[in-house]
Amino acid sequence: MVAYKLTVALESRSYSIHIGSGLIKSGGDSLLLPRLRGHQGVVVTNETVAPLYLSQVQAWLADAGYKSSAIVLPDGEEYKNHAVLLRLYQNLYAAGLQRNGFICALGGGVVGDLAGFAAATYMRGLDLIQLPTTILAQVDSSIGGKNGFNLEVGKNLIGTTYQPRVVISEVDFIKSLPEREVLSGLGEVVKYGLLAGDDFISFLEMNRAEILARNPRSLAIMAHFCSRIKADYVVRDEFDLLGVRAALNLGHTVGHALEKMYDYRGMAHGEAVAVGLVCALSLSFAMRFLPETSLSRALRLVELYGLPMQIPEDADVDELIALMRRDKKAGETLSMILLHGLGDPYLEDKVDVGLLREQLLRCKKPVTYSA
Ligand code: NAD
Ligand code: GLY
Repeated sequence: MVAYKLTVALESRSYSIHIGSGLIKSGGDSLLLPRLRGHQGVVVTNETVAPLYLSQVQAWLADAGYKSSAIVLPDGEEYKNHAVLLRLYQNLYAAGLQRNGFICALGGGVVGDLAGFAAATYMRGLDLIQLPTTILAQVDSSIGGKNGFNLEVGKNLIGTTYQPRVVISEVDFIKSLPEREVLSGLGEVVKYGLLAGDDFISFLEMNRAEILARNPRSLAIMAHFCSRIKADYVVRDEFDLLGVRAALNLGHTVGHALEKMYDYRGMAHGEAVAVGLVCALSLSFAMRFLPETSLSRALRLVELYGLPMQIPEDADVDELIALMRRDKKAGETLSMILLHGLGDPYLEDKVDVGLLREQLLRCKKPVTYSA
């Protein structure tokens, strides 16, 4: 069994992140210490994950002295909405969940975001266990307390920041993840590499084969690196007010615009983020902040993991910029996370739209780097 533990130090809202292989199988209640407030809870999951892991998780909870029932949601981003949330509240009520009850979110980011919001709001706040089952959720969405749901006009427009009591990243759950979801998660992982710099980038460069083969030990080390990086940003700026946590959005300004442009059906989140990373690298280089050697290394890393690197040929760059600005009447500049160097992100709040446009057009073709 491989196992790591780290702490997200947020005073009274502090919690542990456990990462490893065989965590859920091994049973016992040591992962759920300090104890939850009550002994009864609900596992919220979806119709894909339930047949794979629900009974194992409920048996593990029972072993630790917690009774649970289950609520199974439909699978898909399109169900991260207020109608499904309302049904979830009704089912929590029907399950007899009390104020001291808990919710265990078992699934990817969609389940985690919706169940997290329900935990934050039902009876003014229940204990929340995050049990992420995708790479994206293990390295990102289960950590830091952001939750929420989509409105028709946009993603994640409603939400709160509500920290879980514990995050348990069981890397054995990754073995059943579809290939495309693995790739999507790796887009976020590469983002962490660029945020953190040499140590993690070297790990990713040297362990590509093991990671792609889903070797549990390599997945656990990778998730540990990412969780540590994310926890550090969260601790410094829990409520995303200081421009520090915003660095986690590296690659996301272009990424979100691409997802929206294709109505969330063209590119998986992490794929769009990967293209967004290439655009942010290209712009950082064009602004003469990022040295060429760093640009080359970063682009190679994106390529090494087989992530998409180009803006699709049919994408209209002006529409993309309009989506990035959200408000077409905004001025001639916009904000983006860029890099002064690998491991050195910063918030550029005066990105010149002309230069951005030039770089986006460049990113429709393979962005080249020196040998
Ligand atoms: P997802 O939750 O839709 O999961 C992807 C697919 O994999 C789904 O079909 C799911 O049923 C399936 N799946 C999950 N675990 C599996 C497993 N172990 N085996 C087989 N199939 C499995 O997608 P995601 O990429 O995990 O999360 C995306 C969501 O996360 C988006 O809604 C995004 O807005 C949100 N998000 C939130 C944060 C945050 O900080 N709260 C950060 C990043 C992303
Ligand atoms: N996923 C960005 C954040 O948690 O702040």
